[in-house]
Amino acid sequence: MRVLNLSTTAALYGVLSATLAGSQIVVPTIQGFQPTIDDWKAARAKADAFVGKLTLDEKLAMVRGNASAGFCSGTIAAIERLDFPGVCMEDGPNGVNYNDKVNVFPSGVTVAATWDTEFMYQRGLALGAEFRDKGINVMLGPVGGPLGRSPYDGRTWEGFSPDPYLTGLAMQATIQGVQENGVQTTAKHFIGNEQETQRSNTTLSNGTQVAAISSNIGDRALHELYLWPFANAVKAGTSAVMCSYNRLNETYACENSDALISILKTELGFEGYVVSDWGATHSAAPSANGGLDLEMPGYTGTTEVSTWFIPYLPQAIADGSVSIDRLDDMVGRIMTPYYLLNQDAGHLTPDESMIYMLLVATNGLPGAEQLSSLVGVPWQNIAARDVRGIHGAIIREIGAEATVLLKNEGSILPLGSYNEIGVFGSSAADFVDGLAYWDMGIDYGPQIGPIAVGGGSGSVRFTTVSAPLDAIKAQASTKGARVQYLTNNTAIAANDITFYPVPEICIVFISQFATEASDRDSLLASDNSTAVVENVASLCNNTIVVINAPGPLVLPWVENPNVKAILAAHFPGDQIGNSIVDVLWGNTEPSGRLPYTIPAKTSDPDIIPVVREPGPDGWQSTFTEGLFIDYRAYDANRSEPAYEFGFGLGYTTFNITGELAARTTAFNPTATPANSAIAPGGNPSLWDEIVSVKATILNVGKATGKAVPQLYLEFPESSPEGTPVRVLRGFAKLQLDPGKEGDVQFSLMRRDLSYWDIHEQQWVIPTGAFTVNVGFSSRDLRASTQVTVLK
Ligand code: NOJ
Repeated sequence: MRVLNLSTTAALYGVLSATLAGSQIVVPTIQGFQPTIDDWKAARAKADAFVGKLTLDEKLAMVRGNASAGFCSGTIAAIERLDFPGVCMEDGPNGVNYNDKVNVFPSGVTVAATWDTEFMYQRGLALGAEFRDKGINVMLGPVGGPLGRSPYDGRTWEGFSPDPYLTGLAMQATIQGVQENGVQTTAKHFIGNEQETQRSNTTLSNGTQVAAISSNIGDRALHELYLWPFANAVKAGTSAVMCSYNRLNETYACENSDALISILKTELGFEGYVVSDWGATHSAAPSANGGLDLEMPGYTGTTEVSTWFIPYLPQAIADGSVSIDRLDDMVGRIMTPYYLLNQDAGHLTPDESMIYMLLVATNGLPGAEQLSSLVGVPWQNIAARDVRGIHGAIIREIGAEATVLLKNEGSILPLGSYNEIGVFGSSAADFVDGLAYWDMGIDYGPQIGPIAVGGGSGSVRFTTVSAPLDAIKAQASTKGARVQYLTNNTAIAANDITFYPVPEICIVFISQFATEASDRDSLLASDNSTAVVENVASLCNNTIVVINAPGPLVLPWVENPNVKAILAAHFPGDQIGNSIVDVLWGNTEPSGRLPYTIPAKTSDPDIIPVVREPGPDGWQSTFTEGLFIDYRAYDANRSEPAYEFGFGLGYTTFNITGELAARTTAFNPTATPANSAIAPGGNPSLWDEIVSVKATILNVGKATGKAVPQLYLEFPESSPEGTPVRVLRGFAKLQLDPGKEGDVQFSLMRRDLSYWDIHEQQWVIPTGAFTVNVGFSSRDLRASTQVTVLK
């Protein structure tokens, strides 16, 4: 039976099953836990041997951070007596943050838009190499939550897509790529961290403590949406999982035994460690007993950040409220990935320049110089280790491949030969106010400069950047074309444009920034963007709009006949200019597809807002929509988005030829998975193929291009109420020359064909016929067939 926290009340969230809410509380033991997979077993044996050598004080020091012992985002102090050099954890998901001579990688949402697991993996490999070469043990990423329930959430760009299937595969591929470098990953933020507003507890000016937002999520939506990508992460062998700031069903995520023990460590069979988000711990014994293994940042040398594991954990151990066995398990879990990834054998020590970069990040250069002697590190300004390697090439390629072509009237793209090119917009030019966007809670980014990454811990400081204007100028010069430009949006909005002659084509860059610790307050691009696009379009009948944004934006000028092309380029990283040039001039076909829905208007009722104010019961966010987020809401309500999930044009077109071939490949499948021992990722039979589908794709256009066939599954009628109309359960990307065909094979696993039964507490395949649709977006379904798994 699953555990439920006592504080969970059915009344608060009608979506929770009454049966469950009334269940008896059973907390399974996590003591005496042993991994199931051979290499994890061997690593755990080494970890346990290490634990056996530790004194009680050393064990207690291992389960909390110590900022005075290092200059990483999080540090576990060294134990010299045992030659243990300590552990360095660093942000974040899109590159090595707070460092010099690193690359800014395409953000999660960008690589999701490639719909290509190979690119997701290649990005992970390159990211991991940079962390490894900087001497970092643990990367704080990838992000599976926020999933993107609300497009207003300030951190959706760090993660991948509001679709759990797409995000799940992106998590898996990223983790594989990073960990192959011997660098640990931290799947974050577990779980229900779907808004930044009041993500943490606050203190009012009168001293009153206000609890963090409570994400009240029904058990089915929890499993089928928010937990789903974390199951992939555990399956891929993530070393760590970070528990989030928010409360889940009224209990803080880092002491939520239901989430951490019953679900993560038991149901999903997670064998690594749970680390708290920075300052997300709210207790000692309840957290340790509730499944938290490592408190971060722990001791910071200031009183501002509270730590619970000092001094309360020693007390809890002394009075027996936390057992020594549990403490040993905590350290054992923390050290298992360290041995698993051979970090005890030759892992580099952290790049010394990180010390100075962190001081600069937190204090600015003059402040850093002053502060350095205060923290006992004389200012040295030493050169950083350059870890960028040849990763610029894959960053450029992903940036181009991820670009989604939304509109291409008269096939204006790829660009032919033009002599007069206009470039507009504040996000086209190089930065005028610095290369780093670490500030939290500020939802505007650089005033002038490319919007290639967001802000906060998921940001990365640019070592170099290819600004779009510079890249376009370089490209134009090879063709003997002239570029006129205006990058002051205020001037463009005031129609203060002095171009002569009027360019043959005008490329307008508009954008919206987003950052940790605040939610977006608008779904319109920033900085007068509507007037900017309209003014340019009134001047120039070949206007091309390029959008750099963290997720969906509403495009009020979408029907303007002079706006001939629209490209959603997301946050592509430091090769932003080169990537967009590759697409505009046709070196790369824009084979990106939307990993989210673009609404038709800001007042669209299918857009889920974030909670901006407390209610009578404090900060509550009740996920009453259940499974109906993003395209699932639009499909259920039969409403029309501007551009649907999965949409994207290319420079050619495709069709599906012949019938879909769908067949059950499992022998005599049962409704529920076999009762086997849990392994990482949950019951192993959830990952068994049950149905296989084959489709044949034909390039019916005139250019070579990449097709992104997508499989959407409709569940049988016997499925419970609240089941979406259809859900993504497969995708592929294949390049085809004109007139050529290619086959794609989709493998549907047990979990793909099941719903989470809240009464049975099990994944269940419903009886009756599934409809399998294959098409080129969630609304462009070209072929369908039926398959019955259970009569
Ligand atoms: C808070 C953020 O939520 C998390 O993602 C990050 O890893 C930590 N801070 C450490 O910087």
